[in-house]
Amino acid sequence: MTNLPYAGHIKLMSFKRTELINPLLFLIVFFSVFSVHASEKSTVWTGNLQALINNGGVKQELKSWPLAELRKFKQLTSREMDPVSGKIVTWRGVGLSQVLDNALSTLPIERRAQIDLVIIENDQGGRALVPRAFIVKYPVILALKKEKETISSGLYSVVPWTSKSRTLNEGLPLESFFISKITRVEFANYRELFADIFLKRRTDPAAIRGEKTFIQNCAVCHASDKAPQLKELVKKHKNKALATIDHPPIEGVPKLSEKKFRYLSNYFNAFGIETSN
Ligand code: HEC
Repeated sequence: MTNLPYAGHIKLMSFKRTELINPLLFLIVFFSVFSVHASEKSTVWTGNLQALINNGGVKQELKSWPLAELRKFKQLTSREMDPVSGKIVTWRGVGLSQVLDNALSTLPIERRAQIDLVIIENDQGGRALVPRAFIVKYPVILALKKEKETISSGLYSVVPWTSKSRTLNEGLPLESFFISKITRVEFANYRELFADIFLKRRTDPAAIRGEKTFIQNCAVCHASDKAPQLKELVKKHKNKALATIDHPPIEGVPKLSEKKFRYLSNYFNAFGIETSN
């Protein structure tokens, strides 16, 4: 009598188990087959990387490489923090400076020398403005692999901000240089591209520093159609110190030091005076 409920319990358990395990196994097999098929079919990036030169707004293609060609470039490896996960991982891919040299080799030497800005872009509106000098000084990678696995969404720009901590002292918005699904790199000249926001009177060193701060940290949005242009901001806020306004909550707006904000104030003042005349 006392054994009965116990035996019944066992029976119930084993009955439940088989009832559950079969559909579960089926689901596991189904989903693993399904997901392998899905990833084989559509999700691995097989596009091209296009290199363009931006002649003051007019763009011209210099080169275009299919994935297979990019794999033939010398591959670089480094361990850097992924800004998305915060984890330090191994990246492998093409050096951006090699891509730059290769693309610019088609240009006359004088034009090559004028390129001081590299713009990394994807088709989703992602964009980074990277000074050429930074790329020459530090190995920025267009990663094809993360932890030995092909990055299925495509090229990802990785800055050596973990392995080369000096990069952190360059005063650049490094986090914003990490762009996924890159399809284009554009080579340009700051002065040509941002002619409207360069000061004409170049006598106040603090204003000139502020101009540089603005171009490196704010122009990616405020000198594009993504955000109000500097002229509009200056007009809207009149004499109010633009630099002290709390930025509307938008992703990708870099935090600046007090000193940089002071330089920005000087720049906005100087710019306001020039453009109100
Ligand atoms: C990722 C893009 C992006 C970056 C980078 C960025 N901004 Fe903006 N900013 C915007 C957008 C978009 C708006 C308009 C938001 C709105 O109107 O709601 C804006 C608005 C502003 C305003 C107007 C606020 C107001 O109330 O009128 C100021 C001032 C401003 N930004 C300054 C800066 C400065 C200075 C920097 C660089 C340190 C900067 N922004 C960097 C996207 C950006």
